[in-house]
Amino acid sequence: MIRINENYLKLQSSYLFSNIAQRVSAFQENHPERKIIKLGIGDVTRALPSACIHAFHTAVDEMAEDHSFRGYGPEQGYACLREKIAENDFRARGADVSPQEIFVSDGAKCDTGNIQELFATDIRIAIPDPVYPVYLDTNVMAGRTGLFEKDRYQGVVYLDCTKENEFIPELPKNSVDLIYLCFPNNPTGAVATRDILKSWVDYATENHALILYDAAYEAFVRDETIPRSIYEIDGAREVAIEFRSFSKTAGFTGTRCAYTVVPKTCIAYDGLGKKHFLHAMWNRRHSTKFNGVSYPVQKAAEAVYSEEGRIQARALIDYYMKNAALIRKEMAGLGYTCAGGDNSPYIWIEGKMDSWGFFDLLLNKAGVVCTPGAGFGQCGEGFIRISAFNSYENVKEAMVRIKEALY
Ligand code: MLT
Repeated sequence: MIRINENYLKLQSSYLFSNIAQRVSAFQENHPERKIIKLGIGDVTRALPSACIHAFHTAVDEMAEDHSFRGYGPEQGYACLREKIAENDFRARGADVSPQEIFVSDGAKCDTGNIQELFATDIRIAIPDPVYPVYLDTNVMAGRTGLFEKDRYQGVVYLDCTKENEFIPELPKNSVDLIYLCFPNNPTGAVATRDILKSWVDYATENHALILYDAAYEAFVRDETIPRSIYEIDGAREVAIEFRSFSKTAGFTGTRCAYTVVPKTCIAYDGLGKKHFLHAMWNRRHSTKFNGVSYPVQKAAEAVYSEEGRIQARALIDYYMKNAALIRKEMAGLGYTCAGGDNSPYIWIEGKMDSWGFFDLLLNKAGVVCTPGAGFGQCGEGFIRISAFNSYENVKEAMVRIKEALY
């Protein structure tokens, strides 16, 4: 008899963003005349930088000729892209990362979801609350948690991120083995200073733990004192894996390209306490289960590091950050306490009511989609997240509609 993985039965209904999409399409069906403005899921709306499009076209043309056609590429990604990443995203900032430590993939969502396969099921995991749901859900699927009781999965060490701690989690009181961190944070928009990151790296070192560091939003950091990579911190190469994405940095949500850095010095232990290199394990996993990102997509991603690509990608980020500033200003003007939006495309807003209630109110009265904070965890209750990814005109209209709806 075929049997299911019963851990799936522990999961809460559907994935957050699928749940929201279903509610929005039900609303749209009942109100076909309403123009809905989507500021929910962080999905980019502007065209790819022209430097990327040009490289994309050129690579497609190469595929059209026998002499330049390419079949399977290296599972880890083409050297030309990995070298540019290492040089520009890390070495230029004083972080010691080599091209061979970079694994190109089709998304940080997949990588943050898949990486947990490398670890034992009985380790203690620490996960911030609120959190990008993928970290938690994939650990539930793997059987690393107990049942969902009183709004939380048993067995997980939740790191509460609240207004009181400015949405920066405190170090766990007890020892944990695997720690998820995301900065600039999704959903709160909080950023971690060098000292904060250092305290996490020191904690991981002392406790023989590992940090999974999601830096998908690093390109939005405006404050030059804030580290963009965990490898800017001494000691991180031994205790941290970092995830990056071209999705928000250069508009690749539909094109799919990301990468994960697993330093060759990064270690974990077996049941007897013997050290193992995670680079070799991830390489084994990646080459067994993944056949690489398509050549034209990698060439498009490589173009982000050209002179014009860099300027164009920066202009994209600036565009969304102007939206973020507007959202934060307008919501604060309406009397709401806001976080984020200054080094991040997300604005985290204390809604003064339950977060699904606020979501429904904005959808029904303003035709604006946000993300209810409770969908990111218990500590998100009472908050909503508004994303800056849309056109400036739509964001402006959304703010006018929200003002009207709330007064
Ligand atoms: C979000 O809205 O939190 C993200 O866009 C989701 C994702 O990147 O998968």
